[in-house]
Amino acid sequence: MTFRAPHLLGIEPLHPTEITTVLDLADQYANDPGSPRHREVLAGMTQINMFFENSTRTQASFELAGKRLGADVMNMAMQASSVKKGETLIDTALTLNAMHPDLLVVRHPHSGAVDLLSQKVNAAVLNAGDGKHEHPTQALLDALTIRRAKGRLHRLSIAICGDISHSRVARSNIMLLGKMENRIRLIGPPTLMPSGVAEFGCEVFDNMEEGLQDVDVVMMLRLQKERMDGGFIPSEREYYHRYGLDAEKLKHAKPDAIVMHPGPMNRGVEIDGTIADDINRSVIQTQVEMGVAVRMAAMDLLARNLRARRWEAIDGGVMA
Ligand code: NCD
Repeated sequence: MTFRAPHLLGIEPLHPTEITTVLDLADQYANDPGSPRHREVLAGMTQINMFFENSTRTQASFELAGKRLGADVMNMAMQASSVKKGETLIDTALTLNAMHPDLLVVRHPHSGAVDLLSQKVNAAVLNAGDGKHEHPTQALLDALTIRRAKGRLHRLSIAICGDISHSRVARSNIMLLGKMENRIRLIGPPTLMPSGVAEFGCEVFDNMEEGLQDVDVVMMLRLQKERMDGGFIPSEREYYHRYGLDAEKLKHAKPDAIVMHPGPMNRGVEIDGTIADDINRSVIQTQVEMGVAVRMAAMDLLARNLRARRWEAIDGGVMA
């Protein structure tokens, strides 16, 4: 086993062998997700989900993953919590820490907040999305989806399209797919490209027809309007016309190219509904399915590391 990290905060610090370890275990869970045997994996452990930002599929997926592994899962309603009364993130973290959770799943609107929190608690922390920074389990579930559809996760040509600059999904995917030696193309309007995009080592296009030429994977992104504080696009209609994925634009990709989207989708803004629902092209439902398996694998590996550290601490104590 080559996954030794205490937390899963991002893709950036992971080595390709660690990524493969998570994906291999997730593959096994995906083949047999509901087996009663899995309920031993997190038995006796407590998982707390703290979502400071709205989420449907990620929170549900972490909850289901924890339950399938036998953890006691608690969802904190952060919108209604003391945070609204002015409590700081660190005070909230320390309060929760005093309840001795084993796994903390955290989503927060500020980049770096989950990392900060992980330094203050004893639990294993999983980043479920921090601002525009990282969303590691999303990139891992995307990678597993690609690996299962294409039979490999290297030397593929992958287009990531749309609102790159506001997207933690794009950042984590660029890092993961780059580490696994794929060719990455970023397609979108210049106003939605992050500054310093050249450093990512990707090819950049502002034209879908050119950028999609012969790619194996088309990954669409949601327009993150909640993170925009001005006019980044002329209008949604115009955006759809130039950057929305429809059958015509998809013709430029390889005939067996797969279409992905992390959800939630804006049909008719970044993607045509019929493409999203086309079971011969779209793997969007598979992404959701792989999400549970990847989160089971990530929590399983972190729990093993947590137990190992606890045993070491006890051994050390006895020896001293
Ligand atoms: C993504 C997120 O929250 O960053 N969604 C998700 O986790 N399923 C992408 C998005 O919100 O567009």
